[in-house]
Amino acid sequence: MGRFVVIYASETGNTKTVAEEIFDAIRSDAKEIVDVRRFDGRLDADVWFVGYWVNHSTCSIEIMDLLTSLHGKHVALFATCGLDDSAHYYSRLEKNVLAFLPADNNYLGAYFCRGKMPEEIRTRYEEARGVCEKEVIDRMVASYDEALTHPDRQDLLHANLFVDEVFKKLGIR
Ligand SMILES: Cc1cc2nc3c(=O)[nH]c(=O)nc-3n(C[C@H](O)[C@H](O)[C@H](O)COP(=O)(O)O)c2cc1C
Repeated sequence: MGRFVVIYASETGNTKTVAEEIFDAIRSDAKEIVDVRRFDGRLDADVWFVGYWVNHSTCSIEIMDLLTSLHGKHVALFATCGLDDSAHYYSRLEKNVLAFLPADNNYLGAYFCRGKMPEEIRTRYEEARGVCEKEVIDRMVASYDEALTHPDRQDLLHANLFVDEVFKKLGIR
């Protein structure tokens, strides 16, 4: 299986951490890792691991543009997000972004995990006390706090297992 690329968008480093883990887990010398902000549109790879941070339930415009431009490739997605870690939530996020991937690619699945959020988000939740229902704010703050330790060792281990799954789908041992 030709060349591999791990290309990612990461504002505060969480997705970059997962991207580096995925890159290390790829057992090939024909691989590279690229920050999407430095991507000039020229990359010759057969297998694309595309990573992003979840922004308002979708990905950034660079990732939308990148996915839209891919044709005839093997493509796996990975992402970090702050709000929830349920399979149902991840499946919704996956659908939102898959809409940008043309159907002539071989889609290999997605890996999601949580990533800590900036402190301003917690402050914003706290500022909404008295305006929004207490239970809603409490849930948001709890969710923020749960995300604080992620991505953790377990998340990175699962990222490794995800690469194994992708390799199996590609018929690589
Ligand atoms: C402006 C903004 C919007 C966000 N929107 C979402 C969202 O819709 N859903 C979610 O689960 N997390 C959301 N998050 C949390 C980030 O996706 C999460 O912290 C992620 O790990 C950041 O990754 P990075 O460190 O690679 O930039 C948002 C964070 C910011 C700052």
